[in-house]
Amino acid sequence: MSSAEARTLEMAKDVIQSVHVHSSVADQIHFYDRWAQTYEQDVELIEYRAPALAADRVSAHFSGERRASAPVLDVACGTGLVAKTMEREGFRHFVGVDCSEGMLRSARRSGLYRELKTAVLGDQPLPVPSGEFKVVMTVGALSASHIPAKAIRELCRAAEQGGLVCMTARSNRDNLDYKAALEGEMKQMEDEGLWRRVDVTHVTEWERGVTDHERGYIPGCVYLFQKL
Ligand SMILES: C[S@@+](CC[C@H](N)C(=O)[O-])C[C@H]1O[C@@H](n2cnc3c(N)ncnc32)[C@H](O)[C@@H]1O
Repeated sequence: MSSAEARTLEMAKDVIQSVHVHSSVADQIHFYDRWAQTYEQDVELIEYRAPALAADRVSAHFSGERRASAPVLDVACGTGLVAKTMEREGFRHFVGVDCSEGMLRSARRSGLYRELKTAVLGDQPLPVPSGEFKVVMTVGALSASHIPAKAIRELCRAAEQGGLVCMTARSNRDNLDYKAALEGEMKQMEDEGLWRRVDVTHVTEWERGVTDHERGYIPGCVYLFQKL
């Protein structure tokens, strides 16, 4: 994954197919540490729109003047694409968390985050106090071998009362079991009175498929909840 070469769609597809086969947390971190150099080129090639789609859903609930002061926690921030997109919409106050130092280094270079912290969600709690954030974002990291479905409770814990939690997930075949578990946990948390569902947006053309059986685009979903 050298950054010196021009990336092609085929190269991006090869890397992205291998994202989902890492068996241990250490493998996953190592994978993202190496991918950090070419991540943004590769996801552009597959027309990855999740950061823009999620930012759009959140912005719809904030007037222009409230955006600049709203603290946003970006969980699994990667290289910083969510903050880059939200900054264009007027948000200014970002804290990022990720398990990969390589990805965090790129995020640091963006200059957009007030703080960047390391944590492995699922194994560790979010390294932030409870109830501090008006917005909590988790984009592109809710899938098997990434953040376990149960760890979304941590996202809710970090949000302030009345704050928004925005999450995305792919709806293609290889993520359906995980997505069912995720939606089960979301519903359970609603039943426990932790949050209320604001809206769920189904998107047909989420990003380009990367496997032979997924020609064209795969679907995905943006979930928006409000902490009670
Ligand atoms: C596909 S990238 C998405 C990055 C960014 N949110 C975006 O939309 O471009 C997934 C990110 O999740 C991080 N990640 C995966 N599993 C994680 C975990 N259990 N805890 C924290 N970060 C995790 C990876 O290091 C990687 O940066």
